[in-house]
Amino acid sequence: MSGKTPVGILGATGTVGQRFIQLLENHPWFEIAWMAASDRSAHKTYTEACKWRWSSPLPAHIAAMKVSPAVAEGAPRLIFAALDSAAATELEPRFAAAGCAVVSNSSSFRMQEDVPLVIPEVNGDHLELLKTQKWHKDSGGFIVTNPNCSAIGLVMALAPLHRRFGVEKVFVATMQAVSGAGYPGVASLDILGNVIPYIANEEPKMEAETSKLLGSLNGNSIIPADLKVSAHCNRVAVEDGHTESVSIKLRRAAQADEIISSWNEFRCIAQKLNLPSAPKQPVIYDPTPDRPQPRLDIHRGGGMSAVVGRLRPCNLFDWKFTVLSHNTIRGAAGAALLNGELLKAQGYLT
Ligand SMILES: NC(=O)c1ccc[n+]([C@@H]2O[C@H](COP(=O)([O-])OP(=O)(O)OC[C@H]3O[C@@H](n4cnc5c(N)ncnc54)[C@H](OP(=O)(O)O)[C@@H]3O)[C@@H](O)[C@H]2O)c1
Repeated sequence: MSGKTPVGILGATGTVGQRFIQLLENHPWFEIAWMAASDRSAHKTYTEACKWRWSSPLPAHIAAMKVSPAVAEGAPRLIFAALDSAAATELEPRFAAAGCAVVSNSSSFRMQEDVPLVIPEVNGDHLELLKTQKWHKDSGGFIVTNPNCSAIGLVMALAPLHRRFGVEKVFVATMQAVSGAGYPGVASLDILGNVIPYIANEEPKMEAETSKLLGSLNGNSIIPADLKVSAHCNRVAVEDGHTESVSIKLRRAAQADEIISSWNEFRCIAQKLNLPSAPKQPVIYDPTPDRPQPRLDIHRGGGMSAVVGRLRPCNLFDWKFTVLSHNTIRGAAGAALLNGELLKAQGYLT
């Protein structure tokens, strides 16, 4: 090991787990020391356990690394978790109780009162909840979560406007990539040439998580933001990148140039601390009439920026626009990595 912080990946063989491996290769602060998955994969080498999905090569030292069983004994302090929610509900508390700092992608604990649901650019201050979290008090371990992959793009676009003008109502219709369903995910015969107007539990997650993320810290709890969200979630035949059509009603009137400058100038603690995974510009407004598009724009800001376009007046509310974010980077592994970096920078990992 090289002086870097050793980290583990729980659920290392899945879509998000593989993204973690890709993003952690050559990371300046963290180094993969441990990987675990289900009994199906445990005790195999990583190449035997799963099929590598990315075009960048699987690092040789990872390919040869043994996949551990999903038990906390022998795991490092910092764990990036990419488990499906049934497994996360059972396993993440065991790791937290054993003293691990679990940075979770799953929905299992996002809405639990003492669990921070964090996008560093939006609500890094919510990490304060850890001080009263039951696992933290008992073992020093804890669980921090990042949001649902469609909530994150929406909230990054809303946060600068909520701060400046107040957001009262949101209507959002999503077009979500197939990689958001994990691997192997949706059957090709179901999705090719098709749109599926249903993603189980996605709409309630978007609606509830948006209020918690934009909410304010009040001592040991979060007061949800006072806004109403109506979400329509659709699965489309796109590989990576969730696109969302959004209409908003604001509490105070705003001109188009004020909205655009709010997005383009939005910066926060992640940029101030120069965290390695923080994009220089978290929200990018692209004035080109037919952008953003998943194929052309998902890698902007290293896949960590939300790209907004098509701002125009709305006949029902005040304004409407399109936002795009990378679901497995900004919406999952990159989001968790940025949370891990914020935790380290703020001394939560000692
Ligand atoms: N895909 C996205 O864009 C996205 C975005 C945001 C959040 N998320 C969330 O991130 C989590 C992972 O998603 P994914 O898309 O990567 O799913 P996935 O491709 O299905 O991968 C699931 C991972 O969990 C492991 N696992 C399953 N059951 C287990 C058990 N009982 N014990 C230990 N490990 C177990 C699997 O190991 P085996 O290979 O051994 O079965 C695999 O490594 C989910 O909660 C998902 O909702 C996903």
